[in-house]
Formats: sequence, structure tokens, C-alpha cells
Amino acid sequence: MSNRVKNRRLILKSAVASALGASAISSYAADATDCYPSKSPSRQAVTDKVHPSQIKSIPSTKEHISSIGMGTWITFDVANNKTIRDQRSEVLQTFFDQGGQMIDSSPMYGNAEAMIGYGLKKTSGDCALFAASKIWTPVTFDGISQMRNSEALWGVEPIDLMYVHNLVNWEEHLSQLAEWKQSGRIRYLGVSTSHGRRHDQLEQILKTKKLDFIQLTYNYDNRVAQERLIPIARDNGVAVVVNRPFERGFLVEKYKDTPLPGIAKEMGCKTWAQFLLLFIVSHPDVTVAIPATSRVDHMRENMAVLQIELPDTQTREQLL
Ligand SMILES: NC(=O)c1ccc[n+]([C@@H]2O[C@H](COP(=O)([O-])OP(=O)(O)OC[C@H]3O[C@@H](n4cnc5c(N)ncnc54)[C@H](OP(=O)(O)O)[C@@H]3O)[C@@H](O)[C@H]2O)c1
Repeated sequence: MSNRVKNRRLILKSAVASALGASAISSYAADATDCYPSKSPSRQAVTDKVHPSQIKSIPSTKEHISSIGMGTWITFDVANNKTIRDQRSEVLQTFFDQGGQMIDSSPMYGNAEAMIGYGLKKTSGDCALFAASKIWTPVTFDGISQMRNSEALWGVEPIDLMYVHNLVNWEEHLSQLAEWKQSGRIRYLGVSTSHGRRHDQLEQILKTKKLDFIQLTYNYDNRVAQERLIPIARDNGVAVVVNRPFERGFLVEKYKDTPLPGIAKEMGCKTWAQFLLLFIVSHPDVTVAIPATSRVDHMRENMAVLQIELPDTQTREQLL
């Protein structure tokens, strides 16, 4: 990881914070955000690695972000074992080397946030991390300590984006997140769902609350979200992050013996995994897809999609 990211992001808890106290940590982090990320050299490093059409815009700020991020559920929930952790750090390094930015995690994902923290300290070269985590507790007060814990585990401050996970106690937590955003402690806020659950409630929240991001499930076999939720997000200026792009790996398995469609090859996909991702990120109102993998070769394969030019509207219609 670059010195710039270290300077801005690796929490100065041991070096500075313990000497200055919690309020000083907060104000340091807020002051330090202006160097990151859109005007930084790392931003350039991403644009050099990624086809320009794969750089999406976050509606609420117009900040740019590459369209393939990474999930960490199960794949990064690993034991405190050096061999395993070093292997996952390679996965992380590959992600950054190929232009990845958004890493998605949650306190719900066991050791995943600790693994991210370990991996971020080991990565080298330039990186343009966009950190996303979640609050996942029915107890309002616990949301604050969860966020602080996530920052400490990642070794990153501020976390760029905080969601309310699965809408748990969402009204209380959203108010808290709005305060944190106001004070610069986070940069974006949102809510997450998955598996097509609670779409009606998500629709109401989208229509009544000020959100920067939603996260939901949308993939080749599950297109329900494109009917209402994604258009409503677009109309309200909300970024859409897509989880479970492979339906927890099931889709890659399901299609592995089916010939890759001609249109997928014409567009530059070499594998089903790539086509499944391209299907998602070519939706004009999808901002980032977050596939998860525990393997370096799969990460390379997935991130290679960032080299492919996104199809125009007419060509995408052939995918539908
Ligand atoms: N409510 C929520 O907010 C919520 C819910 C669900 C998920 N999420 C987020 O979304 C992320 C992604 O969803 P997910 O983890 O459920 O599933 P997913 O990304 O759809 O699928 C992950 C599985 O796909 C396999 N895979 C990845 N790349 C592959 C490739 N190129 N070829 C073959 N297999 C490949 C992985 O196995 P290998 O390890 O062998 O590559 C892994 O088992 C999660 O990690 C999490 O961050 C959020």
C-alpha cells in the first residue's frame, strides 16, 4: 500500500491516537480526507488499469469508482493462521493490481475485517481503496462501537461507506450514520439487503430517506431488482452495489458445461464468470458489483472484466 494511503488511512491509533485521545483521532481523520481519493495519484493508477467505460460515477458526489469491487463474506473469514492469511493477502494484492477499489465487509462476516486489516498492511504498490462496511445490531448504541471496531480492524479511518446491514434497526442507525457523515467520520451512507428480501421496505426507504448507496442482489438468474428498485435508485440519485453476482458460486457451477453465448465472446468475455459480471456492470444504473473469491486465479479472471469495454444499450439488450 502506498505511503499516501498509509499516511491518510492507517489509523494512527498506536502512534498518535493513544497520545491524543478519541476526539483527536476523529478530527485528524476528517482533516486528512481531502487528499483522497479522486485527485490522488492512486486514482490515476486505477484509470491506467481499467477501461474508461468501467469507471462509474457515484451519483451523490460524481466521484469515480471502478465497477468491480470485492466481497469478503466466507472467503475472507479465515483463522488467524499466517499461511492462510498470506494467501488471502495475495488475493487482495491482485485485486488492487488490477484496478479494484471497493472492498465490502461487515461485522457479521466473522474474521473478515481482521483479515482485511492484515492484508492491507501487507499490500504494496499503489492502491485506491474504497472501504465499505456495515452496522449489524438491533441495539442502537452498539452501532457506534461496531463502527469503531470496524475502523480498528481494517486499520482504516474513515471507512468510506457504511450501510445498515439487512435493514436491522435501520431508522436508528441511519440517523447515527447521517451524524457521522455530517462530521466527516464516514463519507457515504446506505442500506443493504440480499437474496431479494425486503424489497418493499427498501423501496420505501429509497423514496423517503437520503441515501448515497443501496446494496442488493441482482444477477443473470435473478433480475427482479431491475424492474423497480434499480430505476427508483437511479431516480433518487442513489448508487447501486450488487452482491451475490454468482449466487454464492452456484451460477458459475450451473453454467460451466453450457457453451459461452456468442455475444459474450464478441464482447471479450472468455469465461462464464466474466460474462456473469459483465451482465451486471453493463447495467447503466449499477455502480459496482462485489464478487467474492478466496483464490488468486479467480480474482485475476474476475478483475479482467475491467479491461472490457462496456456494451452500448443496444448490445446490452441482446443479453436480456
Ligand atoms: N446482506 C448483505 O449485505 C450481503 C449479503 C450477501 C452478500 N453480501 C456481500 O456480497 C459479496 C458477494 O456475495 P457472495 O459472497 O454471497 O457470493 P458470490 O460473490 O456470488 O460468489 C462467491 C463464490 O463464487 C466463487 N467464485 C468467485 N469467482 C469465481 C470464478 N472466477 N470462478 C468460479 N467460482 C468463482 C467463490 O469461490 P472461490 O473462493 O473458490 O473463488 C465463492 O464461493 C459477499 O462476499 C458480501 O461481501 C452482502
